[in-house]
Amino acid sequence: MPEAEPQDILTPITEAAVFLTACVDPGGEATIGELLPDVAGLRRSVGFRAPDARLSCVVGIGAGLWDRLFGAPRPAGLHPFRELRGPVHTAPATPGDLFFHIRADRLDMCFELARLLADRLGPEVRIVDEVHGFKSFDERDLLGFVDGTENPEGRAAAAAVLIGDEDPGFAGGSYLIVQKYVHDLQGWNELTVEQQEAAFGRTKLDDVEFPDEDKAPDSHLTLNVIEDDEGEQLQIMRFNMPFGRVGEGEYGTYYVAYAATPAVTEEMLDNMFFGKGEATHDRILDFSTAIAGNLYFVPSADFLDDPPLGGEDAEDADEAAEDAAPTAAVEDGSLGIGGLKKTDG
Ligand code: HEM
Repeated sequence: MPEAEPQDILTPITEAAVFLTACVDPGGEATIGELLPDVAGLRRSVGFRAPDARLSCVVGIGAGLWDRLFGAPRPAGLHPFRELRGPVHTAPATPGDLFFHIRADRLDMCFELARLLADRLGPEVRIVDEVHGFKSFDERDLLGFVDGTENPEGRAAAAAVLIGDEDPGFAGGSYLIVQKYVHDLQGWNELTVEQQEAAFGRTKLDDVEFPDEDKAPDSHLTLNVIEDDEGEQLQIMRFNMPFGRVGEGEYGTYYVAYAATPAVTEEMLDNMFFGKGEATHDRILDFSTAIAGNLYFVPSADFLDDPPLGGEDAEDADEAAEDAAPTAAVEDGSLGIGGLKKTDG
């Protein structure tokens, strides 16, 4: 049996991204059932016009919508994002059934694909959050530190992110945890550079990791470098992006992490919000407030091309998909935009 083709998760870092979070009201399942197989075609419609801009789109599906669309079996690790109420800081869980992680080297490409997707959502599917992210200088977050350096590479990246034999029905899939953070830049900038470096456990200008013995117990690195029982480091793949609005005083980091199991990212989150050892929490949280949090399953591209609708509310979705067969059946890799009809209302 051929291996399932993953979605475009492991693309190199891009200049821009659009993050769309949608909620699907009852009755909206049919629309999503029709849309999922068309996403790849819509991406091609926009991306083929400027291939150098490397447009990609990853779709994530939340636990509640999964049950409504597909029912059992459910991917082994899929559950709603767990709110974390630490002694000092909280990571809230916020609404979100469907997520689009759109990336390209040009914001116009991301925007155009977002527009085409939004056009297909219909009245029962509401975009509840939309963030336009941008690359900042040499991959720095708005706290001024290079972000993403220690991501795994090559085969290690694929192993960290993609489900394999442990859940064979969902091989080629992944789990995505996203959080939206806003920073207290004024407070952060009142720290000295040495204090900021202690908060991360890395140097600011040249991005070099501190030796372990020099890392503070509450540094971001101390709490996020975790190992399994055999002493192997557990890894995830992060694609964080800065965002903000100067007029609103909003300076943010959109945290985006893919992993083959949500348990790894969740252990890191536990360390950050509940602390570990001498630390009560991650020092960067004193200047970074989580205002949104979601967990999604990212099925393989093959699954999305031909989703097995059969969940609690999928009968309607199935019928609608059949009605839409002439448009949804564009399988040959051509434009696939036959379904670009306007939804009512
Ligand atoms: C405000 C939000 C965040 C910011 C600005 C941020 C920034 C950074 C920076 C600058 C680094 C060092 C360079 C590198 O990327 O390797 C880093 C490392 C890392 N962060 Fe974050 N981060 C944030 C949230 C998180 C969260 C929520 C998690 C996990 C749940 C996380 C997990 C990690 C991991 C695993 C590393 C690499 C550790 C290593 O192997 O050295 N980060 N982060």
